[in-house]
Amino acid sequence: MSKGVLFRISLWILCLACCANAEITYSHDVAAIFYQKCTVCHHPDDVAMSLMDYKSARPGFRAIRQAVLLKRMPPWFADPGTGHFSNDPSLSESESQTITRWVDEGAKEGNPSELPQLLSTWMVGVLANPTRCSTLGRIMC
Ligand code: HEC
Repeated sequence: MSKGVLFRISLWILCLACCANAEITYSHDVAAIFYQKCTVCHHPDDVAMSLMDYKSARPGFRAIRQAVLLKRMPPWFADPGTGHFSNDPSLSESESQTITRWVDEGAKEGNPSELPQLLSTWMVGVLANPTRCSTLGRIMC
């Protein structure tokens, strides 16, 4: 086998090993999903627990897994048989897998410097105006 081929094979193996081991963390993977799909209701001024930051979300991690697996959250009352709605807030298959894997791997925080910038921007907006809610959120909040 030529050196070039060997080199390419080892690169490939290295790559596979890295991908398989990529750890799911709150900061790197989960915060962005919570921000997009959950925090409109789950913020500090609401009845539901806050999912705005790791410290608030971590204690509820088992309930979060249940709610996601059973598709109880985000709440969505349209009949799936009626077709797809453009404003359907449901989690995609990969989003719900990311959340369940995160819980199964111990719900780690990861590196806070990897938190999506949007999260802090949104938080500033909510603190300035706590009643802010989306149309769907308004039904519930
Ligand atoms: C439209 C508003 C809304 C959205 C969006 C939403 N939730 Fe909720 N959630 C609620 C309310 C209200 C409750 C409390 C009442 C209840 O349990 O139904 C709740 C309760 C929960 C609970 C407590 C246990 C349970 O199942 O009742 C968990 C865990 C939870 N939500 C996780 C999530 C996650 C994770 C997301 C995003 C993927 C999300 N929620 C999105 C409104 C929402």
